[in-house]
Amino acid sequence: MNFTRNFAYANGALACDGVSLAEIAQNRATPFYLYSVAHMRERYQKLFESFAPYPALRSALICFAVKSCSNTALLQKLFEAGAGADIVSEGELARALHAGAAPERIVFSGVGKTRSEIRAACLAGIKAFNVESLEELILINAVAAEENRTASAMIRFNPDVNAGTLDGISTGRKGDKFGLDRDGVKKAFAMAKDLSNVSVRGVSVHIGSQIFFIDRFHDAYVRTRNLVREIRAEGYVVKTVDCGGGFGIPYAEGEPVFNTNDYAETVNDVFSGENVELIFEPGRFIAGNAGVLVTEIVYVKREGDHIFLITDAGMNDLARPAIYGARHEILPLTEKKSGVTECYDVVGPVCESTDQFGKKITLPILQAGEKIAFLSAGAYGASMSSEYNSRPLIEEVAVDQGKVYTVRRRQTIQSLLERERFIEQ
Ligand code: LLP
Repeated sequence: MNFTRNFAYANGALACDGVSLAEIAQNRATPFYLYSVAHMRERYQKLFESFAPYPALRSALICFAVKSCSNTALLQKLFEAGAGADIVSEGELARALHAGAAPERIVFSGVGKTRSEIRAACLAGIKAFNVESLEELILINAVAAEENRTASAMIRFNPDVNAGTLDGISTGRKGDKFGLDRDGVKKAFAMAKDLSNVSVRGVSVHIGSQIFFIDRFHDAYVRTRNLVREIRAEGYVVKTVDCGGGFGIPYAEGEPVFNTNDYAETVNDVFSGENVELIFEPGRFIAGNAGVLVTEIVYVKREGDHIFLITDAGMNDLARPAIYGARHEILPLTEKKSGVTECYDVVGPVCESTDQFGKKITLPILQAGEKIAFLSAGAYGASMSSEYNSRPLIEEVAVDQGKVYTVRRRQTIQSLLERERFIEQ
C-alpha cells in the first residue's frame, strides 16, 4: 500500500505510523477521522525540497489551503513547519490565527468576501486579499479607509484554461465564477491607482483541484506571466504571483502521483526571469492521503442480487462520494488473508440514495460489527461534513510521533439542541 504508506498493515492490523487502528478505535465511538501528522509534514517538506533547486522558488511562501483540512491542531503543525495559510472566510481566518499562523503569511481568496470578513482580515493585517471582482476591490478600499489601513491585494486572473479535472472543481475557465479575465485584471490595476487604501501588488491564479496535467499549469502560468509583463509595461508594480494549488493525489493503488519536481521545473521555466515573489496554495496534496475515516459496519443486508454494507458513517461525514462520485478505497482494520471476496454496495445510514460510497465493490467478506477505513479522506473530508439527519460532527484523532491525540471531540446531541430556541410568544 504505497499510495498512502502511512496507513499500512503491520502484523495483520491496519496501522497509522505504526499505531494499530483497531486499538485506536477500541474506546472510541465510530465513525471518526484519523490523521497522520507525519504524512502532512512530509508532504509539505516534499514540496519544499522540490522547490529548493530553484532560487525563484526557494523563498516561495506555501500557504496551506485551510478549507481542505481545517482542524486547528493539524494547522498548528503545518504552521510550525513553516507554512502560511490560504483562507476563504472569517471562520478560516480565526482558525488560522488561533493555530498560530503569522498574519503576514495569510492570503484570502474567494468570490464573496463580505464587509465583515474584509474588516476582520484587514485588522489582522494579512499579507493579501486575492481580489475576484472590481466591486470587491472597491469594498476593500472602503473598509480599509474606515479602519485607517492600507490593505494589500492581488488580482485573481481567470486564464481560461481547462484544468482537465472534474467539472465541479474546475475554476479557471471562461464562464467560471472565479477571477477576472485579462482586461478585467488590467482594469483593476488601473482602478487601484485612485484607491488610496488598497495597494495592488500582484496577480493570483488557481485553475482547479485534483490536477495531474502539468501542461495545464504551464498554460495558465504562461498566460499569467504574459499578463504580468503587459501590466508592468503599463507602469504598474507587480511584486507577487500566487500560483494557486490543485496538485492531484492518488486515491487508489496505481493512480498517478503528482510530480512535484516536474511542477517546480515548469514554474521555474515560466517565472525565473520575472523577479516575482511566488506563493502556492496546496491543500489536498498535503492533507488528502494523511487521513482516513474509520467506520463500523452496522448491517450486512442482502436484497435481491445486492449486498448492502451499511456503515455508521454517512454522506454527512464524508460527502465527496455523494457530491462528486468520488471513490475512497476501503480497507478492513483487520487484514483478511483468505482471499475470499464478495461484491458489495457500500452505503451510509442517511435517508437518501446518494448516501453511498460505491456500488459493486469487491471486498473481503465482512460482517456486521467489523470496522473498515475509507482511505485518502484527509482533505475535504471532515472540513465538508455536516449535521444532516441531526448526526453530530464526529471525533478527529491524530497520530503524532507514536502518540494518539483527540484533536476534535465528538459533538454531543445535547449541543445540537442547545443552539436552538423555541418560539416564545
Ligand atoms: N486555492 C484556491 C483559491 C482554491 O479554491 C482551492 C480549492 C485551493 C487553493 C486548494 O486546492 P487543492 O490544492 O486542495 O486542490 N471539495 C472538492 C475540492 C474543492 C477545491 C476548492 N478549492 C473535493 O472534495 O474534491
